[in-house]
Amino acid sequence: MTTALEQDAVVRYEPRGAARELFRCRDSELFMAGPAGTGKSLACLFRLHLTALHNPNARFLIFRKTAVSLGSTTLVTWEKKVVTDALARGIVTWFGGSAREAPGYRYSNGSKVDVAGMDRPEKIMSAEYDLVFGDEATELTLNDWESVGTRLRNGKLSWQQQMGACNPSAPTHWIKQRCDQGAAKMLVSRHRDNPAYVNTDGTLTDVGRAYLAKLDALTGVRKSRLRDGIWAAAEGLIYGGFDDAVHLVDAFTVPYEWPRWLSVDFGFTNPFVMQWWAEDPDGRLFLYREIYHSQRLVEDHAKQARGLMLYPSGQWREPRPRAVICDHDAEDRATLEKHLGLKTTPANKKVSPGIQAVQSRLKTAGDGRPRLFVMRDALVERDQALDEAKKPACTEEEISGYVWAVKPGGTAPEAPVKQNDHGCDGMRYMVAARDLLAPKKRVALKSISPR
Ligand SMILES: Nc1ncnc2c1ncn2[C@@H]1O[C@H](COP(=O)(O)OP(=O)(O)OP(=O)(O)O)[C@@H](O)[C@H]1O
Ligand SMILES: [Mg+2]
Repeated sequence: MTTALEQDAVVRYEPRGAARELFRCRDSELFMAGPAGTGKSLACLFRLHLTALHNPNARFLIFRKTAVSLGSTTLVTWEKKVVTDALARGIVTWFGGSAREAPGYRYSNGSKVDVAGMDRPEKIMSAEYDLVFGDEATELTLNDWESVGTRLRNGKLSWQQQMGACNPSAPTHWIKQRCDQGAAKMLVSRHRDNPAYVNTDGTLTDVGRAYLAKLDALTGVRKSRLRDGIWAAAEGLIYGGFDDAVHLVDAFTVPYEWPRWLSVDFGFTNPFVMQWWAEDPDGRLFLYREIYHSQRLVEDHAKQARGLMLYPSGQWREPRPRAVICDHDAEDRATLEKHLGLKTTPANKKVSPGIQAVQSRLKTAGDGRPRLFVMRDALVERDQALDEAKKPACTEEEISGYVWAVKPGGTAPEAPVKQNDHGCDGMRYMVAARDLLAPKKRVALKSISPR
């Protein structure tokens, strides 16, 4: 039974368009898809909260590909915009998790909302749910989605539902295909559905004008997807061989014996990128950590990097990198060397051979595995300014928009578009250092000594 306490919970939310449709939809699988900032996440979270308030002892789940990304995005919206009042009144409380149960929110009517990242799915895989919501669903694999689907059998609601929210991705993405085949319903969300950005008469609010100006400034496939909401393929993709399902791997503890390398691309207005690579005994490279941040001094990046690699006592937490492969700017290199306490090696910056070397590593080898991987959540800290500008905020996010520049009137690919390429440059420098020189001249394998 819903008590007076739950009935009292203040919920102010006006669903429009696809969000309104969502509240009526009983399909067992659905995706809210659309450009950035149309209110997809908020709508799914409100639906979950309202259903929890009105249905005692029901069980819910909010999930994302990784627990870290869930905590830094979806759950911020959830606590700040959805359950704020219920939390303040004690109708909803936070439960930190136990040996058997996932962490989440407990309602005074006995309902529970678990939260989880699919990087640690053990606890949710032994639970049963009525309604679940996967945010940024394009990051999930089909296997993640189907695994969660098997948990929808709690039977406390007369209907069960698996909701996902996402921006459009490539037209070949499993979500688009699943919806096209009729296995799931797609609700198409648009900016006009968001009252924070668009008034009822179709004019933009001040906040909406500022937000859409950022989307208007995007280019290429990012613009098609994030501004126009199109499931668009990137034309002239350079690393078309990069497949999230193959090259993106969950975080793991890198064995101590694996050699480490750093590669650096300088920037201030554009992001500064520092990538940590580990090499397994078969020569495969893993990007396991990354600083990708704009508007900070090289000196500050260097200090942050030292803190990640060394204890305050100066002892190494992890093996010292064998080389710091660096963009050429002399002044930046000198500053980096001074504050990092490591010598740097100038990168081989030849574009074409470097790109070919990366492309070749992305191909699967005889053992069915490629020779280059990126770890999920390698990023040390998200740059809010890049997020707000809807620019890529880490190397992995650059790859799907890294394209050849086509000469006006011509078709021959000459060089990459010099935009949102900072992480891709760092990756190219790393691969060039390992693959482009004769073995004797490869970046010295001997350890470099601290200055
Ligand atoms: N119906 C609404 N009423 C008031 N504010 C709303 C509504 N819908 C969305 N907003 C606000 O608009 C902003 C964007 O909403 P939200 O984060 O849900 O969008 P999204 O479509 O999930 O975005 P993204 O594509 O970036 O994931 C948020 O600040 C949210 O609070
Ligand atoms: Mg969202």
